[in-house]
Amino acid sequence: MDQRKINIAIDGYSSCGKGTLAKAIALALSYVFIDSGAMYRAVTLYLMRHSVNLDDMAQVEQALAQVTVEFDVNDAGASVVLLNGENVEHEIRTIAVASNVSEVAKIQAVRDKLVFLQQQMGAKKGVVMDGRDIGTVVFPDAELKIFMTASVEVRAQRRFSELVAKGDAVTLEEISANLKHRDAVDSSRENSPLTMTSDYRVLDNSEMDRDSQFALAMAWADEVFSLIS
Ligand code: CDP
Repeated sequence: MDQRKINIAIDGYSSCGKGTLAKAIALALSYVFIDSGAMYRAVTLYLMRHSVNLDDMAQVEQALAQVTVEFDVNDAGASVVLLNGENVEHEIRTIAVASNVSEVAKIQAVRDKLVFLQQQMGAKKGVVMDGRDIGTVVFPDAELKIFMTASVEVRAQRRFSELVAKGDAVTLEEISANLKHRDAVDSSRENSPLTMTSDYRVLDNSEMDRDSQFALAMAWADEVFSLIS
């Protein structure tokens, strides 16, 4: 395989396995995986902890100036997000944070700060980043853009199993309601909505296992490599 560095953008609805696919591609290509959603979740956690009023832009901007978001690798080799140096990987995945994150992600000042950081991370290429606006706003020049989707039932069941395995007390109903809410807010917001342009390749994985998703995405990457080499 041609090892020229490209950027790969994976966008799509909540809980459709973007992170799992992005990690597998990054590992195979020796690229860096970046979970942009973790960054929005970390900022949300900070604003929740400090009871920031999201309608008061001065308060939000003051809080944002106090926030640093970085990634680190834990002892098991997994990527973890650091909020002002603290590993918040578990806390940002809770339903409490999931219930607030889409409201926070609507705020342009939040997006400006995180998009700036994301663009720095991808400046040298060799990045696989998943999110909602990666191929449209963060890396509009990404050489490979994938839009992932799956039925809401499949997505809710996957996220439910993930959280139950971590010991969180959640119900399938609340997960399903949260996914639908976030999909609606993320797709209809004014700032950088979740949307797809004609240069995306669509991957509906409702009925695909991980291996076949990975094989398809790697075949697309190979196509891109052969076009640019
Ligand atoms: O993992 P899941 O699909 O549930 O969501 P996530 O990728 O962790 O993203 C959490 C939330 O952050 C989304 O519902 C969006 O509101 C927001 N987000 C965004 O606005 N833009 C991104 N590039 C990534 C996430």
